Amino acid sequence: MQSSDGFYRSKCLIIVDKMEIIRAKRGDRYVDDALKIARGLKEWFNENGLKSIETDLFFDNLVVAVESGETLGFACYSSYEGIMQLVWIAVERNHHGMGIGTALLKWIEDEARTHDLMSIQVETLPDEDSYEPYKLTRKFYYDNGFTRIAYKKARLEGRDDQIVLEKKL
Ligand SMILES: CC(C)(COP(=O)(O)OP(=O)(O)OC[C@H]1O[C@@H](n2cnc3c(N)ncnc32)[C@H](O)[C@@H]1OP(=O)(O)O)[C@@H](O)C(=O)NCCC(=O)NCCS
Repeated sequence: MQSSDGFYRSKCLIIVDKMEIIRAKRGDRYVDDALKIARGLKEWFNENGLKSIETDLFFDNLVVAVESGETLGFACYSSYEGIMQLVWIAVERNHHGMGIGTALLKWIEDEARTHDLMSIQVETLPDEDSYEPYKLTRKFYYDNGFTRIAYKKARLEGRDDQIVLEKKL
């Protein structure tokens, strides 16, 4: 128990130590890398979700986590009325649980503070929804200081209700 925990932590540190967080520029390869990561996460992103991610990556900002030239995670973000909107965040399936999502979130937080934004908001599936994969997703947000502030009914047929989570800065 003790040794496997120790191994896990040192593996995390190696990944995160060598990792760079890079703000993507329009037209560079990172948009395609981000889409590829999202396409590999079918339990979280269905066809509607993937289509939205593609559109949002065109209109919004993108930051990526890169290690030895390989893109391992991304966050798509934007700001609105003094609030940072975390539009999408995802980490390549084989690299979950290694601190990459936390590093991306910290970058977004630092960026929001630099621009004097009040908070970060993100939408995700409600706690009331029993769909298993998003239980871990909500745990990620709650553990990182987000609290639930609203429930939004789906506006389009075939879409899911969402909750709004917020982290005050
Ligand atoms: C949610 C996500 C971005 C978190 O990034 P990550 O790099 O895996 O997370 P970190 O290593 O920084 O943090 C680990 C914590 O996140 C939580 N977590 C969330 N999803 C996880 C997953 N699929 N695997 C492992 N841990 C996960 C764990 O509770 C873990 O905390 P613990 O070590 O106390 O158990 C990533 O797992 C992911 O891409 N999930 C699928 C897509 C998704 O849910 N995107 C958000 C849509 S709203």
